[in-house]
Amino acid sequence: MKKSIVFVILLPALMCVACSKPAADTQEAQMNAFVDKLMAQMTLEEKLGQLNLPVTGDIVTGQARESNVAEDIRQGKVGGLFNLKGAKAIREVQRIAVEESRLGIPILFGMDVIHGYETVFPIPLALACSWDMEAIERSAQIAAREATADGICWTFSPMVDVCHDGRWGRISEGSGEDPYLGSRIAEAMVRGYQGSSLADSATMMACVKHFALYGLVEAGREYNNVYPDDFHAFNEYMQPYKAAVDAGAGSVMAAFNTVHGVPCTGNKWLLNDLLRKQWGFRGFVVSDYCGLEQLQDHGVQTDKEQSAIQCLEAGLDMDMVSAGLVALADAVRDGRCSKKAVDAACRRMLQAKYKLGLFDNPYKYCDTARREQVILCPEHRAEARKIAGESMVLLKNEKNLLPLQKRGTIALIGPLADTRPNMSGTWAVAAVPERYKTVREGLQDALQGTGAKLLYAKGSNLMYDAAQEAIGTMFGREMRDARSAEAMRAEAISIARRADVIVAAMGEASEMSGECSSRVNIEMPDAQHDMLVELAKLGKPIVLVHFAGRPTVLNWETDNLPAILESWFCGSESADAIADVLFGEVNPSGKLTVQLPRHVGQYPFSYRQMRTSRLNPGGEFNKFTTCYADVSNTPLYPFGYGLSYTQFAYTNFLLTDSVMPLDGKVEARVTVTNTGSRAGAEIVQLYIGDRVAKGVRPYKELRGFERLTLQPGESREVTFTLDADRLGYYEPADLKWTLEAGEIEVMIGANSRDTEMRLLHVQ
Ligand code: BGC
Repeated sequence: MKKSIVFVILLPALMCVACSKPAADTQEAQMNAFVDKLMAQMTLEEKLGQLNLPVTGDIVTGQARESNVAEDIRQGKVGGLFNLKGAKAIREVQRIAVEESRLGIPILFGMDVIHGYETVFPIPLALACSWDMEAIERSAQIAAREATADGICWTFSPMVDVCHDGRWGRISEGSGEDPYLGSRIAEAMVRGYQGSSLADSATMMACVKHFALYGLVEAGREYNNVYPDDFHAFNEYMQPYKAAVDAGAGSVMAAFNTVHGVPCTGNKWLLNDLLRKQWGFRGFVVSDYCGLEQLQDHGVQTDKEQSAIQCLEAGLDMDMVSAGLVALADAVRDGRCSKKAVDAACRRMLQAKYKLGLFDNPYKYCDTARREQVILCPEHRAEARKIAGESMVLLKNEKNLLPLQKRGTIALIGPLADTRPNMSGTWAVAAVPERYKTVREGLQDALQGTGAKLLYAKGSNLMYDAAQEAIGTMFGREMRDARSAEAMRAEAISIARRADVIVAAMGEASEMSGECSSRVNIEMPDAQHDMLVELAKLGKPIVLVHFAGRPTVLNWETDNLPAILESWFCGSESADAIADVLFGEVNPSGKLTVQLPRHVGQYPFSYRQMRTSRLNPGGEFNKFTTCYADVSNTPLYPFGYGLSYTQFAYTNFLLTDSVMPLDGKVEARVTVTNTGSRAGAEIVQLYIGDRVAKGVRPYKELRGFERLTLQPGESREVTFTLDADRLGYYEPADLKWTLEAGEIEVMIGANSRDTEMRLLHVQ
């Protein structure tokens, strides 16, 4: 038996030798022939085993040989495993699959490699603020290079859920509030992870998540329901999933929530009709963690077997943790579950393994020599530092307080100033915090040899309530200081008094955002706020280096502090990157991809305000218009906003024609000049506003951007081609991408608020 399997397993390699450059369809035919032969030898149980994705369990503790998971692997009941770290451990588990199971089918090793591996890049929300597609692609490429050297061939990323609600902790994992920008980022991430070939041992398979619409969870509460209508779903939220699929993402993760009232994991319309038939997706669909058995929580099924049948027949291929699909043998035998559906799912799983080259070499991702060379290597760290510097957003800089001079005495104060585990940000499964610097160390290194003095005090705990702090610092990252609030404050005030400038490293801890970290209070935590109030009384210049994994409310800070740098969580190199920006080695260029509200009660909140009756454009209270009585409609900082240490002027904005035929093209051009005295990067943004359309459109929606680096005095012309692709929308009747005749406002500017407009007549 084994012999024939060995022959089957070697087949693709032989075929490659026989024909050096087979056309794509020949390759596909070869893959299908290989999979057909393999499936012909598989029992029903073995086919179902391919659909099973248990979590690693006690394998992590080195008990691989004795664990149940290991026994299941031997019996061919495991298709993949996830979040097992380390090439050695993975090689051992793969060996069990290849040498000790009947057919020797290799297993997939997945992980949440969300924003880097050991070299950690900024959290996705921060990374998006760079608007730098090359850098974003490179970050994914480096993540793949490191993860694949350590045994991983599949990542549960990119997360492309568009979100308009800062209460949702997982807003940190996505690209923000805009579907156009989110789509470009989704494509860049897929390109970065998968490269030009999945067979390359330094690339890994991407998994687009959470399909679909997870970013709409009601009231920003984790795992909650979503209720968009199709028109808004397609125009506001679906595009990044489609963009990732069009870019060739190999897998898709079904979301926890429902769509049209049916849980995504068992939603035939979503997985089969839309994703596969309409969008032409050819990869496999995996559930989210226990998503299959949660059909019972949703109250649409009464038991796990029924849930599994519904999910499989809806188009789910792989079941994360529930172990529902793997147990369907009886149901298939007695005709309650379709055998065809089992075959289709098994085929997709084997195709994925084939594409990754696992049948050629099941250990190709466990190269310990490569591991030593690439993981956390200086080149990757340098790249991460650069990208971190691009991702921070300078919100305020009165009287050019920043960049700071490297002289005099600097007081560094705050609970985020000297903490290592908080640097990488949420969802950094492979992080090695002990190898990252704290902000204090980063500043100290930057000041080395300058004669400038750095003083440090923690100043306060994260918040007064220890129980709340424990929730916000999960996973053993407790930072609690046993001293009284008064003692900590007194220490901080005494060093601040001796300083010329105060740098406050404050805000959220990294686990205050991310999965299951929804919050209704998104202001500066109380103990830190009180500390800032006391510091402000000293009358010294204060720079707030603000940590956050979500948009937060910074009203008091904006009114009372001269400089605010939104530093998010920028990964393993955060500390050096913060020093780079504070001392001007790097000129900040990031721009917000979520607007910052004035009050949490404004959520859900986006610059993509739909045209509405009784508009209140100014946002101040005006009876019988759409507004609040006690807070302006406007954001505190708009989408697309961010300052630089230099200034940019926009001139000569024109359309090459004010009239465009429906199938024609017109160019929008603008000249951007660096009018300041430092080199800097500017993100030029193109918005449109379709004045009259069959389906209601936003007043402003992003449809283009360009990131330019300009030397002092340098000018560059930026051109955007306007056509049906760029200007259209999914019209309400049958959700087809359409451009209608009428007037379109074309706007260009440095952020979503400060734009100039030219009118385009489409006819
Ligand atoms: C999350 C996913 C993640 C999965 C595996 C789930 O709880 O929603 O985003 O990929 O766990 O860790």
